[in-house]
Amino acid sequence: MILQPLLDRIDSQARRHIGQGKVADYIPALARVPAERFGMAICTLDGELYCSGDAREPFSIQSISKAFALAMAQQRYGDELWQRVGKEPSGNAFNSLVQLEFEQGIPRNPFINAGALVVVDALSSRLSAPVHAFLEAMRLRSGNPGLRIDHKVADSEYEHRFRNAAMANLMKSFGNFRNEVDEVLRAYFSYCALSMSCVDLARAFSFLANGGCCVVTGEQWLSRLQTQQLNALLFTSGLYDAAGDFAYRVGMPAKSGVGGGIVAVVPGRFTVCVWSPELNCYGNSVAGIWALEELSRALDLRLF
Ligand code: DON
Repeated sequence: MILQPLLDRIDSQARRHIGQGKVADYIPALARVPAERFGMAICTLDGELYCSGDAREPFSIQSISKAFALAMAQQRYGDELWQRVGKEPSGNAFNSLVQLEFEQGIPRNPFINAGALVVVDALSSRLSAPVHAFLEAMRLRSGNPGLRIDHKVADSEYEHRFRNAAMANLMKSFGNFRNEVDEVLRAYFSYCALSMSCVDLARAFSFLANGGCCVVTGEQWLSRLQTQQLNALLFTSGLYDAAGDFAYRVGMPAKSGVGGGIVAVVPGRFTVCVWSPELNCYGNSVAGIWALEELSRALDLRLF
């Protein structure tokens, strides 16, 4: 298989891009992550794993959690969910507040912070222990029972929660928030503060490349249609106001996080996760995007 030598080459070249971005520091606990890390992992549909660099080192998944939370909400709500959150790219930063006021408290999509907060609010209405359910679902589908939430990161986010709290309260004023704001914020920060490695993430999101069937457990987690819908939204909004550039350069559905991780999907072939903590001004990993662009180019992976 040509994948391993390719990953090794991309790994050594991607490291040259370290120094061009900036580690997220608006969550103080994340600012301590060493900038020079780089890892990449691919999980194929037959469960084969290809890794490079720091692929087994856990990092804060941050907004990558939003794609998993959405899958959990799709399962429980189906299309009813779209009465409370949109499906359109926002064209604004992931933590922007401006559209919410104009659009009556309905966030543009489930991946910007406001949209993810609505998704976690919806999950909180149907789950008695939303954090436990999320953690167990991730443990099961990654095949790693040792996954843990980094409470230092979650607490640090809570201490600096004011923008997210403002969004949640604004949505509550429009009637688009059912549970206690503080409880939902705590759950949302716990989801974001889950620590996972590239290997864990490539496995946990294998269902996105496999028509909804988890490669690790063999279970049909989402329907084929729901999986196609989730991939479509990841393609148009997974990288926020840089989704167009990513679609142009890489051409895959993907979800990024300010921890520096990006999960990308090649439907019918594999799920890939890359991690490098330095971010560009849109909050996406600089070396990570470079690496995915190179992978896509080398294997001719663009969807169109
Ligand atoms: O709420 C926040 O701002 C963070 N917990 C998550 C933001 C994030 O990862 C944006 N992604 N690139």
